Amino acid sequence: MEPQLGPEAAALRPGWLALLLWVSALSCSSSLPASSPSSLVSQVRTSYNFGRTFLGLDKCNACIGTSICKKFFKEEIRSDNWLASHLGLPPDFLLSYPANYSDDSKIWRPVEIFRLVSKYQNEISDRRICASASAPKTCSIERVLRKTERFQKWLQAKRLTPDLVQGLASPLLRCPSQRLLDRVVRRYAEVADAGSIFMDHFTDRDKLRLLYTLAVNSHPILLQIFPGAEGWPLPKYLGSCGRFLVSTSTRLLQEFYGAPPDQAADLAYQLLGVLESLRSNDLNYFFYFTHIDAGMFGVFNNGHLFIRDASAVGVIDKQEGSQEATRAGENKDIFSCLVSSCQVQLPSCESVSEKQSLVLVCQKLLPRLLQGRFPSPVQDDIDSALAQCGDSTRPDPEVLGAASWLKDILRPLRTCDSRFAYRYPDCKYNDKF
Ligand SMILES: *[C@@H]1O[C@H](CO)[C@@H](O)[C@H](O)[C@H]1NC(C)=O
Repeated sequence: MEPQLGPEAAALRPGWLALLLWVSALSCSSSLPASSPSSLVSQVRTSYNFGRTFLGLDKCNACIGTSICKKFFKEEIRSDNWLASHLGLPPDFLLSYPANYSDDSKIWRPVEIFRLVSKYQNEISDRRICASASAPKTCSIERVLRKTERFQKWLQAKRLTPDLVQGLASPLLRCPSQRLLDRVVRRYAEVADAGSIFMDHFTDRDKLRLLYTLAVNSHPILLQIFPGAEGWPLPKYLGSCGRFLVSTSTRLLQEFYGAPPDQAADLAYQLLGVLESLRSNDLNYFFYFTHIDAGMFGVFNNGHLFIRDASAVGVIDKQEGSQEATRAGENKDIFSCLVSSCQVQLPSCESVSEKQSLVLVCQKLLPRLLQGRFPSPVQDDIDSALAQCGDSTRPDPEVLGAASWLKDILRPLRTCDSRFAYRYPDCKYNDKF
């Protein structure tokens, strides 16, 4: 029941085809016994299709982008794990893959390669797209999406306005303001010249990729519009290829569940700080999590905590307010149904409370870091602060108050040494750090 895909491939620049063949040939040559030219060609051919399909390049322009493909082809993004496997490709059931990235083949830094959604989910949504065109036997995903009313509206649009994203499932777009959408267009890194709030410099292809990305998972867009370099607790967006994106990363928060108490206190303290900055910041955006799990957070080598997976992060514009979809069910189309059933009712902007993310973190993550780690009177205080801040029946001010009490308890439990390079050596001279 694989949807048949055709014309997307033609959208690839010819040079890539050669590069892909070349890379595939490289990855084959080491593991293949000597073979006749014809069988080598068929081997390369098979492997080439697999690689292209693996990255999802055959699904462009219903993909995230192509900005980082070259680095894949030049093997400036590599993973020891892949090279060890016989096919030279990672298993396709994972959502993310650790890898190393280099700009000069000398210095390598750890990155993570993410799928927007699972391969299984991709297959379901591709099938839904074909089914929506009711000619499922020969379906070009791109052609079907292009014909939609929504995309035709996108083609006419100079500016990305709330009506163009209404009905999309991503929490980033549930309460869209014009200010937020202008920011998306201005900072969208997959087009050549970012910087304008008008989409004049967007090709049709660019528009389809942006719309597809927003519809499937807005994680890469969040990384682009709220960059870590400007102080947001997010990893650096390095680029996309097909249905994968690459961002800086190192370790998962779960790996620290057994960390020494001072390190656990440091991470819990940072986590509360991150939530605070998401509630109140200079730009007057209120960020919240729709759900929480430990895999959403990571820790850089310098000890700095960041949001590893922003797919469940919603944004409410406190300055401009939002133009919410008027009625549930309105404005829904195939783009609304790529990752969830179209039947799913999305909560309204008004239903998001200030305490929401705190309650989730205090229930699900902080206990794993903080329970049973400290001597008696301190631990008792921590436990009761945790209980109060994780209690969703309490009003906002009580939950917020418990969180700031918890922060006060944790502050002196953190130590100052080189494991915490993100605040060391400053912490030696200034207890603010
Ligand atoms: C990244 O490079 C380091 C140092 O060379 C190596 O130890 C590590 O295994 C590499 N990681 C991956 C995922 O390839």
